[in-house]
Amino acid sequence: MTLLEVNNLKKVYTTRFGGNHVQALSNVTFSVEQGEYVAIMGESGSGKTTLLNTLAALDKPTSGEVLLNGKSLPDLKEKEISAFRRDNLGFVFQDFNLLDTFSLKDNIFLPLVLSGKTYDEMNRRLQPLAAKLGILELLEKYPYEVSGGQKQRAAVCRALITNPQLILADEPTGALDSRATDGLLRIFSEINESGQTILMVTHSIKAASSAKRVLFIKDGEIYHQLYKGSSSTETMFQKISDTLTMIATGGARNE
Ligand SMILES: Nc1ncnc2c1ncn2[C@@H]1O[C@H](COP(=O)(O)OP(=O)(O)O)[C@@H](O)[C@H]1O
Ligand SMILES: [Mg+2]
Repeated sequence: MTLLEVNNLKKVYTTRFGGNHVQALSNVTFSVEQGEYVAIMGESGSGKTTLLNTLAALDKPTSGEVLLNGKSLPDLKEKEISAFRRDNLGFVFQDFNLLDTFSLKDNIFLPLVLSGKTYDEMNRRLQPLAAKLGILELLEKYPYEVSGGQKQRAAVCRALITNPQLILADEPTGALDSRATDGLLRIFSEINESGQTILMVTHSIKAASSAKRVLFIKDGEIYHQLYKGSSSTETMFQKISDTLTMIATGGARNE
């Protein structure tokens, strides 16, 4: 089943004085099936964050369609957008986006508090997830008391606790050391194995090679894609690295 459908998406930013136009997305078309784990790669400025923001209805496209489960995001009314986002999407960011004055537990509860869940319900959801993510012992701590990897695991817990249809991650390993990166990628693979659909923007070849499919974006368009299939992570690493070299040197597109 197709979960996300993106058709001919275009985004042009116009500066405040109307003089400059930046075409961040020129024509992006792809879809994501339920249960997929897709990475999006591309050079800095290629439109990755713009794409994620548009998918999250944080930004409106200039033209084109974004359908999540057949529902058009750009057509949602302003009032419906935040509830839709809260109920259907989970976000993981490079810099964690945890509130420093809240314990990890309260950070994780935040999306549920906003949707009016009872404390019992919140706790019932939290326990198994926190155990799976290895943060049960840390729930009463504050973000500044734990490591980057632990903060990111709490952020993943916050993203998952609403049972979102889709996890959107923007450079989730960007601020992590290599050990914490490995831990986070293991978690992403595990939650994907148990059915969670993930779309992750990343610069890291290592992170991308843990995904099952990699889309390459160049000049605001999907330039190429690779399926992991039965290849090993090492083979995928090599293929991704070759594709990035090709993109950087402007080489021809070959399989
Ligand atoms: N709010 C904005 N206003 C104007 N230009 C923007 C804005 N956001 C991004 N851009 C431009 O759009 C292009 C794509 O940016 P972005 O999506 O952030 O790329 P990436 O995440 O791949 O680095 C860049 O040229 C960037 O300068
Ligand atoms: Mg970006």
